[in-house]
Amino acid sequence: MSSPHPVVIYGASGYTGRLIAEYLREYHVPFVAAGRDAEKLQAIMDKVPGIETATYEVRAVEHTVEALTELFAGAKVVCNTVGPFATYGMTVAEAALVAGAHYIDTTGEQNWMIDVRDKLGEAYAEQGLLLAPCIAQMYTSGEIAANIALEDPSVDTLDTLVLWAGAPTIASTDSIFTILMADHFYLENDALVQWPGAVTFEAAVPGQHPTSLVLPWGGTSHPVWFQDDPRVVTCKSYGGVFNREVMTGVAQIAQMVEEQIKPMESAEEQQAALGAIMAQMDTQTPPRENPRVNRSLDSVVGSGPLGSTQVVIRGACNYQQTGLLQAYCAHALLQQPPRRAGFASGCQAFGHRELLGVLQRFGLVGEPTVTRV
Ligand SMILES: NC(=O)c1ccc[n+]([C@@H]2O[C@H](COP(=O)([O-])OP(=O)(O)OC[C@H]3O[C@@H](n4cnc5c(N)ncnc54)[C@H](OP(=O)(O)O)[C@@H]3O)[C@@H](O)[C@H]2O)c1
Repeated sequence: MSSPHPVVIYGASGYTGRLIAEYLREYHVPFVAAGRDAEKLQAIMDKVPGIETATYEVRAVEHTVEALTELFAGAKVVCNTVGPFATYGMTVAEAALVAGAHYIDTTGEQNWMIDVRDKLGEAYAEQGLLLAPCIAQMYTSGEIAANIALEDPSVDTLDTLVLWAGAPTIASTDSIFTILMADHFYLENDALVQWPGAVTFEAAVPGQHPTSLVLPWGGTSHPVWFQDDPRVVTCKSYGGVFNREVMTGVAQIAQMVEEQIKPMESAEEQQAALGAIMAQMDTQTPPRENPRVNRSLDSVVGSGPLGSTQVVIRGACNYQQTGLLQAYCAHALLQQPPRRAGFASGCQAFGHRELLGVLQRFGLVGEPTVTRV
């Protein structure tokens, strides 16, 4: 039986979940705000701008396949924001599949994407359902830029960079630590190749004179999405925040993880050591984003033997971009099937020009600059 609330936001009490709620309201989509604590969920929903005109209900649920399957029954789309996804994601993706719902999430964790693709991709495809991890600013905006670069048919190599200004949320920080522990990969000559541990780069950033300190940031989604794209042979991705002091700290932690934590004998010891570093950081939920402070920049150099094209997309409020992308994709799935079922990216399922248009209509990104270099 179909539900009067066709979209479930799992993790609606979080910073990103509440933004999805805000944008679902703008798309007139009724939703369930789900999570582990009904009282907290309601208190947070009560503060979502315009919520008095949204159609929604709050549901508390245990984090098990059985309980989540029951919650998702009758829904068409699950928007999952409970991260780190390498820790919590599989339970939710399994439940959505059993319930017959499309699954989209906000991850930026490459290792989780590969894992869920390999375990559940085929089963989702057989049911005509979308399995789309990482519909989020990191890395859908860069994927849009990459696809614009690929409109030049001579391009076969992608070099992607994402930078943002702002503070990470609690689960984002947790996820950043999770990806530091994982093996991560770039695409070279059609094969995934492992990055060496704790490697850093100086990136030439469009529009500024100083370089930025960046990392492979867990590999990012791009090498995974472009792995089976016949247009692309090589894809390397870099990311970080604009603040150099913060990036210096992240690079030091990455080094410590490599030298001191990875060699530890048990996963328990590793978790305890990581937990101790995270506790020192004392991360808090950041304030609502401000476009004068919170900025994003995605730059993609697409090259080939005949030349290269650089595409730059500037934007603001990257968590709001994520909330909007999730809400739009859920809204689209209520009206028509995805362009590709099974494991697919935002651009593969909905089209890169369409997603760019959505972000532009809400004033969150500008017109991409395309330069033949
Ligand atoms: N790629 C991107 O651009 C991008 C953008 C945004 C977010 N993200 C990712 O999305 C995830 C969520 O981010 P956020 O900003 O919403 O973080 P957040 O504000 O810390 O929210 C985390 C959410 O997960 C829930 N949660 C945590 N542990 C749980 C558990 N054991 N069982 C059930 N629920 C649990 C929290 O519930 P409680 O409120 O009950 O604690 C909360 O609803 C992170 O992994 C982040 O990296 C990625």
